[in-house]
Amino acid sequence: MAKISDEVNRRNRALEACAAVNDVVIEIGPVEKFLHDILNEKPMRFSSQQLASCTGNYSTELGSGGFGVVYKGELPNGLPVAVKVLKVSMNKKVQEGFMAEIGTIGRTYHVHLVRLYGFCFDPDTKALVYEYLENGSLEKYLYGDGDGGAGEDEKRERLEWRTLHRIAVGTAKGIRYLHEECQQKIVHYDIKPANILVTSDFTPKVADFGLARLGERENTHMSSLTGGRRGTPGYAAPELWMALPTTEKCDVYSFGMVLFEILGRRRNYDAQLEDESREWFPKWVWDKYEQGDMESIVSAAAGVGEADREKAETMCKVALWCVQFQPSARPTMSSVVRMLEGEMAIVPPVNPFHYVSSGGSSSSWALSSGTGTGTGPFTSSSRDTGRDSEVSAASAPPKS
Ligand SMILES: Nc1ncnc2c1ncn2[C@@H]1O[C@H](COP(=O)(O)OP(=O)(O)OP(=O)(O)O)[C@@H](O)[C@H]1O
Ligand SMILES: [Mg+2]
Repeated sequence: MAKISDEVNRRNRALEACAAVNDVVIEIGPVEKFLHDILNEKPMRFSSQQLASCTGNYSTELGSGGFGVVYKGELPNGLPVAVKVLKVSMNKKVQEGFMAEIGTIGRTYHVHLVRLYGFCFDPDTKALVYEYLENGSLEKYLYGDGDGGAGEDEKRERLEWRTLHRIAVGTAKGIRYLHEECQQKIVHYDIKPANILVTSDFTPKVADFGLARLGERENTHMSSLTGGRRGTPGYAAPELWMALPTTEKCDVYSFGMVLFEILGRRRNYDAQLEDESREWFPKWVWDKYEQGDMESIVSAAAGVGEADREKAETMCKVALWCVQFQPSARPTMSSVVRMLEGEMAIVPPVNPFHYVSSGGSSSSWALSSGTGTGTGPFTSSSRDTGRDSEVSAASAPPKS
């Protein structure tokens, strides 16, 4: 109940804030249209002058990514916002579709999704105005090398294993909403710790959903590996970098990679490590799992107490299922949520890394059974029929 009233208050503050900006800075459209927009909860349109004034002339940078730079801002009533100034190349077709995309993003509300308040579509400025999340991205809490101000140890101490587990479950729920529950299915294409933002009480919210169709990103942290367009190396599913047809299962893969990083509290790939076998954490986890050495995995997962062992083991198995090479072998996000919450039995995972050990020649067989969602052990039918405990690993990739 308290959560609902908090949400209502938050929305009211946001709406007041948008109205305040319009009152103070620019002329607003006809009253009827303004009211109509608010009733339909459409994101508000800001002018470039308004954004410059909200951000103190873009004085505080929060970070930058493939779409542009994010600045801290404040609406006239004091509501903090994050303004993402887009540096994407938009062809005419994309420009025409901009409003439609913004409309979709703006109407997509969920407690685990970052809320879009508004946008700017002036000739010189294309920007998105988001709710501001006090604690920034999960990235800095996982690796401790972000620029959040506090020292590494301080950050690590603050995030207990339980909080990290809660962040994992909340994030999964946000993605589940995008895939399975909102009016128009949204595939994120860039799930990674930098796109999981956290509130002051460490509630996770997925950021940047719906941006994949807003134009081509700058090639800053992308590489030719992902075709220069979607996903981030290290998190992008094989079908993305192999330029094969994609489905929402590419988000499941990326989420699996995030789970490994949560489990190990480290970057999945770390060439600095003395023990070479640990360089790529997901493969190290699989090797230990295959040897039946859960003990090593759990002790590598920093801060897992005796009481949380089972949860850590569950997270490990879910991660291994999520990163299966065959999209159809990966679970749906609703299965992921249920497994993480202990409501669904988990079949022992099969080796997700055949293609690594078989020298990468797997492309010929790998996605042959299709990138759809129909044939894997976690098909929606198991959800529909409630026979989740009967799922089998029937579609496991061939042994190398
Ligand atoms: N709504 C927000 N509230 C607070 N900080 C934010 C917000 N949005 C973004 N940031 C900060 O800005 C940083 C950069 O975000 P941005 O989305 O531009 O890059 P990215 O997430 O690293 O890459 P990508 O372009 O793939 O999303 C984030 O890591 C985060 O620290
Ligand atoms: Mg981002």
